[in-house]
Amino acid sequence: MERLALGVLISGRGSNLQALIDACADPTFPARIAVALSNRADAGGLDRAAAQGIPCAVVPHRDHPDREGFERAVDRVLRDAGVGLVCLAGFMRVLTPWFVGAWANRLINIHPSLLPAFPGLDTHRRALDAGVRFHGCTVHFVRADVDSGPIVVQAAVPVLPDDDEARLAARVLAAEHRCYPLAVRLVAEGRVRIVGGRAVVEGAAAPRGAALNPCDCASS
Ligand code: GRF
Repeated sequence: MERLALGVLISGRGSNLQALIDACADPTFPARIAVALSNRADAGGLDRAAAQGIPCAVVPHRDHPDREGFERAVDRVLRDAGVGLVCLAGFMRVLTPWFVGAWANRLINIHPSLLPAFPGLDTHRRALDAGVRFHGCTVHFVRADVDSGPIVVQAAVPVLPDDDEARLAARVLAAEHRCYPLAVRLVAEGRVRIVGGRAVVEGAAAPRGAALNPCDCASS
């Protein structure tokens, strides 16, 4: 089995990178990490990757006069590593239409909300402020508009009455660590097609019925 070569782009602690590293440690997983790349030399995730012998690259955005120059340097690293799928995992640079076009449908992102709700930053704070009963995370193909694009996998988690931002973020992050490897596996197995701007997943089961929150368990 030829395993899909991943390029994982990070800017920080890299817990989602770690989830992908753990998934790829299983020899039956259909992807492998060809390179972990950061725009910041101090990204903690690079240490996680280096500890596993995964090739690491640092492309500091400040070394380049403009966004596209930076992205061309990133693109070169990815192509040299033979990457077939780019996974953004807490990569804190907005990508230009040039880069998004160059990696069209081979570029996915994980975002800490149930998109299209709460694109952008501070998603957990905003979910609490809005009083939503469910929050979660999304893995989606990247389009030029920030936090938009065909959705591959989502996980919903309940928002609990005594949640603060940290508690809710931790619950969502645990879901992220399940979603990203699943999404990569589905893509690597060739089970995701993009049809009319939406991602269609072949042969995957979905939960039936509704989840309620609050569920008023006493009356059910
Ligand atoms: C995650 O919450 C991810 O959804 C968002 O940035 C965060 C990165 O966390 N895009 P980590 O670096 O993977 O721990």
